[in-house]
Amino acid sequence: MPVFVTANRSATQADLGIPQDLFAAIERLKRDLNAIVLAHYYQEADIQDVADYIGDSLGLSQKAAETDAEVIVFAGVHFMAETAKILNPDKLVLLPDLAAGCSLADSCPPEAFATFKAQHPDHIVVSYINCTAEIKAMSDIICTSSNAVKLVNQIPTMQPIIFAPDRNLGRYVMQQTGRELLLWDGSCMVHETFSERKLVELKVAHPQAEIIAHPECEPPVLAHADFIGSTTALLNYSQRSPSQAFIVVTEAGIIHQMEKAVPGKQFIPAPPMNQCACNECPHMRLNTLEKLYLAMKHQSPEITLPEAIQKAALKPIQRMLAMS
Ligand code: 13P
Ligand code: SF4
Repeated sequence: MPVFVTANRSATQADLGIPQDLFAAIERLKRDLNAIVLAHYYQEADIQDVADYIGDSLGLSQKAAETDAEVIVFAGVHFMAETAKILNPDKLVLLPDLAAGCSLADSCPPEAFATFKAQHPDHIVVSYINCTAEIKAMSDIICTSSNAVKLVNQIPTMQPIIFAPDRNLGRYVMQQTGRELLLWDGSCMVHETFSERKLVELKVAHPQAEIIAHPECEPPVLAHADFIGSTTALLNYSQRSPSQAFIVVTEAGIIHQMEKAVPGKQFIPAPPMNQCACNECPHMRLNTLEKLYLAMKHQSPEITLPEAIQKAALKPIQRMLAMS
């Protein structure tokens, strides 16, 4: 798949038979296919604008579970589209770029996790949704960043728990619940790039701004946050807070929805360690509007799963939906 350069978009589009008005073409395909486009907040702005629903991982799973559309076009990363497929084994689930993975999901390889789990047979497994279907199939309950604390609080206090794969979210849940969790040592490459030193410098430059952060960030960064939550929780907080400025410590794509929701407020992206664009998730950003159109036009690439994995992974997701 060629990489599209915005300035050359028309020439490249013409070569590939991509219409000029992609928004209208995608709307047509939605109708023709009876398709729904679900997008995560970390997608580029154009994709968010064409989506039927934009949300955090919990909202997207709930939407995937309830939709009666025949085709689900998932503008997000692989584990998200896979979750939609687990919930809808008989539907066509499309991901614009199959290479859109996740460093956090990759940090928990199934074989190594199976060994780890076998070493702790008395533990139940709570897995963050940012993991592969194989890990979900080995889990008892799936959680997201918006319900992890609530779900862990529902588990009897004497029950030992393995929490995988994000050690940062795991530590945050331990702090919020007072529970001891056995953590898998995984992390997100995007949320770990935020620099505490630069964040403090930014706060000094904007003392009136509130720091709002995602729990995938490391503890020294979270220690400076006025509010911590999932992407949807951060978006909602930015609307209800009386503050007029926010330093946003998560993937920068969410700022598109924040600026749309409260246009008068100022949203300052938190700085990563270097002068890079690494507060944009390179996996999420593999999807483009052109690839989304082509995926719908060709009904490919689609997500497929072995039946045994799909069935085993469904149970802990259903438990999460029931407990949320
Ligand atoms: P939420 O949207 O559930 O907060 O998750 C953030 C994330 O990292 C998704 O990959
Ligand atoms: Fe994975 Fe982090 Fe990208 Fe989310 S932001 S998809 S956790 S690498």
